[in-house]
Amino acid sequence: MARRRNTISRVAMPLAVSASLGCAACVNQDQGSTALASTDGEECYVPRLQEAAAASGITDANPCGPCGPCGPGAVIELEMDEAKAAYECIQGDLVDAYAVSGLDVATAYVNWDNYTAAPYLSALHGSRYVNNFGNDAADAYGEWEGGGAMTAGGILVKDSMTISTTGKVGVGPLFLMEKMEAGWNPDSDDWKYSMVTANGSVFGETKGTNAGAVGFCVDCHLAAERDHMFFLPEELRVNPN
Ligand code: HEC
Repeated sequence: MARRRNTISRVAMPLAVSASLGCAACVNQDQGSTALASTDGEECYVPRLQEAAAASGITDANPCGPCGPCGPGAVIELEMDEAKAAYECIQGDLVDAYAVSGLDVATAYVNWDNYTAAPYLSALHGSRYVNNFGNDAADAYGEWEGGGAMTAGGILVKDSMTISTTGKVGVGPLFLMEKMEAGWNPDSDDWKYSMVTANGSVFGETKGTNAGAVGFCVDCHLAAERDHMFFLPEELRVNPN
């Protein structure tokens, strides 16, 4: 898969500025920039966050600067344009990482229908930025809450990226749901859940290896109004069909 790197180089932040900025400058300042920066031509950063982090002495190696929320689960808010640019920069890396799993869907999904206008923050999938894709058999996904049960063969995939306090964009896990034939597994209404980690290993699979590890997916998705599908925030829904 060809890499789509944005090669715009980053605006250097004068070191002298760092001492004078307080924590308010850390993550929410709007510098109006949505272009993706790259420090070494390989890594993806959200420039607004990268510049703010540099200004407050937070680095990838030392995320515990005066403003660095070192604790787990820091939620980084991105503008839609920033999320799109970050995704465009990292997508090649996502696919490379998922390819290690050896699963066809882990690379094929990028050519499927994307139902997401821009990557959004999903608190329930580890506060990562996600997109929802579906294969042709899953076209009825776009009927949203109004449709019926998914047809067998329908596959829904959610890829994900992480954003660190320094603005660095990283690979997050791949979440998969496949509707199997009727009777395959009544406990999950015939959905097979699986997850591929950021380093490409298969974390678990319903009725397969390490099935218990994906039991929590089933438990939560069972509560959805329409056949395990929760869809996405309304303002971000796109029906490509
Ligand atoms: C605590 C609840 C919860 C858990 C646990 C959970 N999900 Fe989800 N899932 C959701 C919600 C809500 C959405 C839609 C909104 C969003 O993306 O945040 C969703 C969306 C999805 C989608 C897109 C299809 C759809 O339902 O619209 C996939 C694929 C998915 N999840 C897979 C998984 C997998 C695989 C796991 C386990 C590794 C998992 N989920 C764990 C709540 C959950």
